[in-house]
Amino acid sequence: MQKTSSEQDPQSKPELAGDRASPRRIALVGFGTVGRAVAKILCERDNGDGLLRLTHICNRTFERKKQSWVPGDVVWTDDFQTILDSDAEIIVELIGGLSPAGELVRSSLKAGKSVVTANKQLIARHGPELLQLGGAHGSQLEFGASVAGGVPVLPALRTGLCGDRLHGVAGILNGTCNYILSRLESDRIPFSEALEEAQARGYAEADASEDLDGGDARAKLSILALAGLHVRVSPEEIRARTIRAIDAVDFDYAADLGCTIRQISRADLKESTLLADVGPSLVPAASPFGRVQRNLNLVLTSGIYGGDMAFLGAGAGGEPTAVAVVSDLMFVAENLAAGPRPHRQLQLASPKTSCDFVTPWYLRFLVKDQPGIIAGLAAILSAHQLNIDAVLQKPGFDKNALPFVITLEPCRDSQLHPALEEMAKLAFALKPCLSLPILR
Ligand SMILES: NC(=O)c1ccc[n+]([C@@H]2O[C@H](COP(=O)([O-])OP(=O)(O)OC[C@H]3O[C@@H](n4cnc5c(N)ncnc54)[C@H](OP(=O)(O)O)[C@@H]3O)[C@@H](O)[C@H]2O)c1
Repeated sequence: MQKTSSEQDPQSKPELAGDRASPRRIALVGFGTVGRAVAKILCERDNGDGLLRLTHICNRTFERKKQSWVPGDVVWTDDFQTILDSDAEIIVELIGGLSPAGELVRSSLKAGKSVVTANKQLIARHGPELLQLGGAHGSQLEFGASVAGGVPVLPALRTGLCGDRLHGVAGILNGTCNYILSRLESDRIPFSEALEEAQARGYAEADASEDLDGGDARAKLSILALAGLHVRVSPEEIRARTIRAIDAVDFDYAADLGCTIRQISRADLKESTLLADVGPSLVPAASPFGRVQRNLNLVLTSGIYGGDMAFLGAGAGGEPTAVAVVSDLMFVAENLAAGPRPHRQLQLASPKTSCDFVTPWYLRFLVKDQPGIIAGLAAILSAHQLNIDAVLQKPGFDKNALPFVITLEPCRDSQLHPALEEMAKLAFALKPCLSLPILR
């Protein structure tokens, strides 16, 4: 068990901050799902390696949060200033959101304290600035849990893959979307039923817009682009498409094409352009993406020298995410023990961002059946130099709301969109057509 801290026990020998022999003093801010799991790991570790010691926990109205398994010498507070003034060397920010988390992280870095955070909103929007701030004050900033929770993809980018030059990252980064889509796939249930099930199981928030409409995944993609491709891209620059329009019938048509549907986030660095997109896409059913079920995450990286790599696992949940946080803590502690070293500042590029990928497309129409539909659509497609690959129509549907599919040969996103706008105006179209890239 841990020793009594000098703040509580005046008899104990004070440990010097920065003393290489003593464990690093950790202040945890935010005692929620992840914070509690981090504290549990820190308190249960036998400290055999003597690296880490939890000294402070900060949470608003903390009295209701206190746990019997937290050692009595840990200081509880609701005041950030107490943490900043303390001798804690590493601050773990686990409150989430931009403010006051941002202010806390900035103040900690300026005070020479290292920071570990799982906060994707903060890193996606302010990561480059915070890394620079840390570098200027000799403080480290690690955020390994901010993408894909417990899957160690960011640490792999930092160490195991930093010898390569990556040109692409792609992933299933949102467990809520993957849960819903894989439930539609396995049981062909309505979208609304899959969403309610995800909410009942705690995989989706009551307002799941950030997940369903791609906001969460594009924040994570911008962090992967920062850490892996060394580019600055804000989440808002990345186009996000919703999964709300996906229907069980799309899985029938996708299966006819040997595919299934997943929310895919992808970024490719092509010279001075970053191609980036988040949204539902057809992927081969037998591919790594096609096989990811339930709320798991998968990240694939593509490097010039090392080729493709895959990282699969639990993208969320208190304990898997806490493992990533504690691993970051150990990395920071080891660096602190090694003493001051020249700071390795990432050289970041700011390329133009575009979603103009070239892919084949899946177009699913919902129409009131009448003669001449295919001819009308074909005329528009041909006017935009878009080539039809196949037309698929399953029997047995109500002719007043008939879903059928046209697949297109590869074309640019920008070439397709004017055609989609024209097709949406046709009298027989009951809804705008659902357009999904086919990623082979
Ligand atoms: N949960 C996951 O699976 C997961 C996965 C990857 C990354 N993350 C990230 O990890 C971070 C924490 O997530 P979480 O799921 O643990 O969130 P959470 O359960 O909501 O915990 C947040 C904690 O911070 C406290 N808090 C909020 N604002 C505060 C403030 N101004 N001052 C003091 N305490 C404050 C909350 O107190 P109250 O109890 O009073 O609300 C709560 O205990 C977020 O950045 C999240 O995006 C989470």
